[in-house]
Amino acid sequence: MSDPPVAAAAPATAPIARLPTRLINQIAAGEVVTRPAAALKELVENSLDAGAGRIEVSVEEDALSFSVRDDGVGMAADDLVLAVERYATSKIRELDDLQRLTTRGFRGEALAAIAAVSRLEIVTRTPDALEGLRLRVSGGQASPPEPCAANPGTTIAVRDLFFNTPARLKFLRAAVAEWGHMLQAFVRQSLTRPDVAFSIRWRGRPYLDLPAGQSIRDRLAQVLPTGAGQDLLSLDLTLHEVRVTGAVTGPRTTRRDRRHQYAFVNGRPIVFRPLMFALEEAYRGLIMTQRYPMAAVMLTLPGELVDVNVHPTKEQVRFRNEALVAGAVHRAVLEALRAADLVPRLQMPPPGAGLKLAAPPMPKDGTRPATRTAAPAPPLRLDQPDLTDASRDGAQPGDQLDFIPGFGLPGESQGTEGTNPPPSPPPPSNTPAGPAPVPYAEPVARDEASLIERLRRLPHPPRMLGQVAETYLLAEAGAEGMLVIDQHAAHEKILYLRYLHAAERPDGIQVQPLMIPHSIDLAPEDEPALETLRPALAEAGFELEPFGGRTWLVQAIPVLFDRLDVPAFLRDLIDDVGQGDLPREMRRLRERICARAACRAAVKAGDRLAPEEMQRLLHDLLGTADALRCPHGRPTLLLLTRDQLDRQFGRLG
Ligand SMILES: Nc1ncnc2c1ncn2[C@@H]1O[C@H](COP(=O)(O)OP(=O)(O)O)[C@@H](O)[C@H]1O
Ligand SMILES: [Mg+2]
Repeated sequence: MSDPPVAAAAPATAPIARLPTRLINQIAAGEVVTRPAAALKELVENSLDAGAGRIEVSVEEDALSFSVRDDGVGMAADDLVLAVERYATSKIRELDDLQRLTTRGFRGEALAAIAAVSRLEIVTRTPDALEGLRLRVSGGQASPPEPCAANPGTTIAVRDLFFNTPARLKFLRAAVAEWGHMLQAFVRQSLTRPDVAFSIRWRGRPYLDLPAGQSIRDRLAQVLPTGAGQDLLSLDLTLHEVRVTGAVTGPRTTRRDRRHQYAFVNGRPIVFRPLMFALEEAYRGLIMTQRYPMAAVMLTLPGELVDVNVHPTKEQVRFRNEALVAGAVHRAVLEALRAADLVPRLQMPPPGAGLKLAAPPMPKDGTRPATRTAAPAPPLRLDQPDLTDASRDGAQPGDQLDFIPGFGLPGESQGTEGTNPPPSPPPPSNTPAGPAPVPYAEPVARDEASLIERLRRLPHPPRMLGQVAETYLLAEAGAEGMLVIDQHAAHEKILYLRYLHAAERPDGIQVQPLMIPHSIDLAPEDEPALETLRPALAEAGFELEPFGGRTWLVQAIPVLFDRLDVPAFLRDLIDDVGQGDLPREMRRLRERICARAACRAAVKAGDRLAPEEMQRLLHDLLGTADALRCPHGRPTLLLLTRDQLDRQFGRLG
């Protein structure tokens, strides 16, 4: 629109000229070698293509010089000279070869591109040659190969990457950040071939040393953050022509970002977001929002169903049938979670270890304690192994409560980088796909439905006993035992389903105009977010109007949302957009709106409830389908079984 006049623009009359090869290579390097990690990836791929059994990477201080050594087939003199030329490849000869491709490379441009923007040295020896050869290329200018001493295989050393392209150099981040990208690229490659040994060093210090002959699961365990490897579930499922293998972490081992999610197609690392969404979808209700599982998903499918030649880096792909591939991934993960019996459990100290359910000290005058925080926390911990000596010999399966959806773990809520070690090694999870295919979106934890059923079928409905710390409700559930309810989570779930139900009714939602509109002031960066949300909000019954400046008015809200703190609710949603975390699909958006509204409208921890309110909440909760988790995946309700109580009091062996 208002581009400044380009003074240096070539006059249209300049004669057309062929670009010199070196310039072409430098231009190509802009696509293939965007940063050190991209060059490293290409070199490692070449080593894999050369049949290496061991690949050693070493990265220098500044992350701009690095080397890759392999024990592969090496190159003879003629090949060596050709290797650094553009479009020189030993891997394909005709277009049809692309569909039968077994190598990573095929475009024959990586080495030429790297050589064009660095000082490159290749030392190589074929197994039957008596000596090695050395070739040096600097800024695309090659000197003739000369003989040298070398072991069989190839070592390619890149020095001073981008030394002759200062513009590119300027875009790089600090060495440590570039090193991070390199490590990530290395890990991705190492996951494609767990049979090959890989090692990587930075500044002389070894970072990863991955032995040959590993299983994908062991390899993944070694490259994931400490601890995560103990909570891996294997994937193995075939849907039509798509086979899904690999491994994922269990729902209690999650991260704040998707950095540890790896996808591969026919052994090639790819970037394909929809696959990861399909994967995460399988965990819905099992993990908290904004937490992500770690995964290595390997897809194997016929070459004609996938196009790998979409981009020079060969990391982008197109699938002939994307929905099928995403569906296969979703189902594979769902089955792995199911097979691992991810019905969460509450770890209890064994009998005799002392279950200190001390009553809160009540002031003598009968008033309630001054602060809520003074209420002693009973030593019940979700999914946390009790490490006292007594528990080690006394713990037994019967000491686990039967059904609790307990994924709201300490490590999770802190949002730390750490992972929560599972209490016990995960059960074998590589069960064969059963004969009856699993429906697409059935609840994963199989005991949950039956628990709610059992509670509903009790001869007398559960009876509310009272409120603890103004946060939890206690109820007696006949022969089942005792219920502990998180009042906020439970109410949130009830409201969520009620809102969702209303929002999905074809006759729409009853809207209530506000006598006094809510006003909300936006930051400049929030306005596009609100514009994005407006249609979905309107559909859900929220009428918003710009008022001038950055102020918006909420003129009407759905009748249902009577308790809603509207400005706070809108802020939550806007934050979701800002974090790129809002689904585009209308249905999902609606769910999110309902979840956010429910969270804001529900009673909070710390709200004092009247007896009728408590009883009502319990009643509504038991009338709720899938009542055991709040919309964020936290548990709403725990059961302390009769058996459990008996055991704790020494009434049962
Ligand atoms: N580490 C290596 N060992 C043996 N040959 C190699 C190695 N790296 C590169 N080559 C040879 O150099 C050629 C060019 O490599 P490259 O530019 O990456 O293109 P491509 O991998 O697409 O063929 C390869 O086809 C291969 O023959
Ligand atoms: Mg290559």
